[in-house]
Amino acid sequence: MQNSFDKFDKIVERKNTLSVKWDNCQSIFNNDDILPMWVADSDWKTVPEVIEKLKSRAEHGVFGYCYADDKIKESIINWIERKYNWKIKKEWIVFDTGVVPALNFTLNMITDPSDGVIIQPPVYRPFFEAVDNNHCELIKNNLIYKNGKYEMNFNNLQKIIDDYKNNNKTVKAVILCSPHNPVGRVWNKNEINKLIKIAEKENIYILSDEIHCDLTYPGIKHFPTALIGENYREKIITYMAPSKTFNIAGLHTSYTIITNKKLRDKYTDIKHGFSSGNSPFGLDALKTAYNKGDNWLNNQQHYLKGNLDYTADYLKKEIPEIKLIYPEGTYLLWLDCRDLGFENNENLIDFFNNKAEVGLNPGIWFGESGSGFMRMNIACPRSILKKGLDRINKAVKKIRG
Ligand SMILES: Cc1ncc(COP(=O)(O)O)c(C=O)c1O
Repeated sequence: MQNSFDKFDKIVERKNTLSVKWDNCQSIFNNDDILPMWVADSDWKTVPEVIEKLKSRAEHGVFGYCYADDKIKESIINWIERKYNWKIKKEWIVFDTGVVPALNFTLNMITDPSDGVIIQPPVYRPFFEAVDNNHCELIKNNLIYKNGKYEMNFNNLQKIIDDYKNNNKTVKAVILCSPHNPVGRVWNKNEINKLIKIAEKENIYILSDEIHCDLTYPGIKHFPTALIGENYREKIITYMAPSKTFNIAGLHTSYTIITNKKLRDKYTDIKHGFSSGNSPFGLDALKTAYNKGDNWLNNQQHYLKGNLDYTADYLKKEIPEIKLIYPEGTYLLWLDCRDLGFENNENLIDFFNNKAEVGLNPGIWFGESGSGFMRMNIACPRSILKKGLDRINKAVKKIRG
């Protein structure tokens, strides 16, 4: 009899599928024998009902232009209310082909060149690039790493803004990663409230990237920023997608929630000409996943918790030099590798790429404060995870005195 975790244990061959994660190892790591555990997608099949829906869409055989109708918007509205108790309006939803382009469009809309935009490293690299792309000044408010846990540095945030004002410069926005990639924090109500209070006092936009919101571990709750900051929601823009949740990132369908009509109209105008509409496959997959994927997601989250516990246990027993920053959400593990004793990041990266032959994201990719860390993706069958950890273990044994 099939148990609910069989589908996550099953190895699906991803080589020769144009997979960024699996087919790019030579160009990224300079080593084709690498076991890839980097790009944030999963190594298992999506929700069976989604696959069926896409098959029937493929059989229809006509792939003309498509738009998102009310039923698709209702699937989003119901999902967000069911999961987060946030009642959104259908007109607030704007469809995009990805959160990264949506963040870029937003900065293009709200900033003037040289405006300051705050990010909180270590954080997802494209945030840095979005600020640069829009000729804004990148302001880093590094997270604080204290007692094995990351926190936002609210005192420094206020200080940075004050310094900017004293120099007659403008801070326009803060980009929040909630849950936070790569450190795995799911910001709680209190933390989000503190951020909103500062933003409100200073009249700063909050761009809240919530792409990982459905991927919290049992017992941990995600709070949408614009729900917590209901009174300030006109200046909070939310980015969500079913892509990470259901492993459909290649279908390029995300949505942006903009409650402020003027801003929403401007956003739609700006992206017109830079972005095309969504594919029929992306829209069908989104609707089907949100309408029929609850149970599958629940099983996935239990499987991921198993992978997390397995990794935590393994590292503690076998490789205590690598310290896991225990996450509250995301399937991305942030590993403190400084006790491996490498002199610099090049040596650390070389160790993982060429000695362990496991393809992780170097922590430095997420900013200077990620120096000495690596990020590992555990959205894979446990046997692959075990293989990756065994490879690291074997390589670490060789460098121990
Ligand atoms: C925080 C965060 N935002 C955005 C993205 C990418 O979003 P998209 O593929 O929709 O552009 C990722 C992917 O890893 C991510 O981790």
